Amino acid sequence: MAKTYDAWKFISEIDPTINFKEKQYKRVKQKQLYSSTYSRETLFKNMAKGQISVFKDYPIDLSSSIKKKGIHDVFSKLKVEHNIKVNMGPSATVKYKGINEISSMLKNGQAKLGITDLHFRNTNLHHHLDVKNLSYYNVLCRSTEEAKTQEMMTFVVATKGYFTDSHSDDPDGTNHCIKGNKLWLAWDTFEGSQHGIEDVERTGTYGDQASFDLDTFLKLKSSKWFHVKTGETLFLPGHLSHKVFTLDEYYGYGSFYVSLPNLLRTISRWILHRPLWEKEIHSNSTLIDEILKTALNIINRLESSSRLEKQRWGYDFIPISINHWKREYSTKEKKILHADSIFAKLDKILF
Ligand SMILES: [Fe+2]
Repeated sequence: MAKTYDAWKFISEIDPTINFKEKQYKRVKQKQLYSSTYSRETLFKNMAKGQISVFKDYPIDLSSSIKKKGIHDVFSKLKVEHNIKVNMGPSATVKYKGINEISSMLKNGQAKLGITDLHFRNTNLHHHLDVKNLSYYNVLCRSTEEAKTQEMMTFVVATKGYFTDSHSDDPDGTNHCIKGNKLWLAWDTFEGSQHGIEDVERTGTYGDQASFDLDTFLKLKSSKWFHVKTGETLFLPGHLSHKVFTLDEYYGYGSFYVSLPNLLRTISRWILHRPLWEKEIHSNSTLIDEILKTALNIINRLESSSRLEKQRWGYDFIPISINHWKREYSTKEKKILHADSIFAKLDKILF
């Protein structure tokens, strides 16, 4: 009990928009989501329904060096050609630094820093991390070169007190915590914005930080908060905005994904609200189509594949995603989607 209270007092100190008060404690507790035991069924069912999973025991096999010497030791031997982008200090100023300097800052324990987009697939770190178990279901990895860049398999480092302001990402995302503890607040982007909770990606911000109000957050139907701690693995649906606070120095890795169970709601969201990558000047206007085409090819191929192969892809959870879609989307939204030329390709195969 005291631990939760202390954690909320701590995040309130580092982020003035939280402003947690003792009288809110009971309501805060009611919104907590706890980590659970992993099963394939829970993972794919939650993907299909757009619900958060935090597993205590998701199968991840890290290298013996990480197990014996620790992740900091392995990370300090990272070989990269360029300096690494680091967000430094309370205002998260972007700097580029070499691994030796980053490693000694981490060792000293003085600096406040966050590394969020360290692509490690072509580095010596790759061999230490279990990438396969976080991507065997990922359509993005089987798609075009541009779709593959949306996967963003990256390594994450954050020191105690580092936090990222309210934002959302395009697809669903996963993160495995090798060591540390982060506290996440998550809510539906559009439910939040209707009630004045901003998202730096979707709504922009009025001041330095995205507007946030704890009482409002606690009243949202979609709001939840949770920890992701050492050994735990998060699967976060893409329709949820989030604010993330590092409680204990964090080392983790993960990526974005489109799977067969989340395909219908991901494509629907992109058509209805447009993907964030379209904000970039030279964005690829055919990317949704490319990703969908790969997914539909996989579905076609699986129709004559073994039961095991179907299960691996979560093919058996597509009907749950259809039922969820029928329940969750309004008549107006369904009408827009059924009239869309990209959605028509899904329509043909799923409905
Ligand atoms: Fe994020």
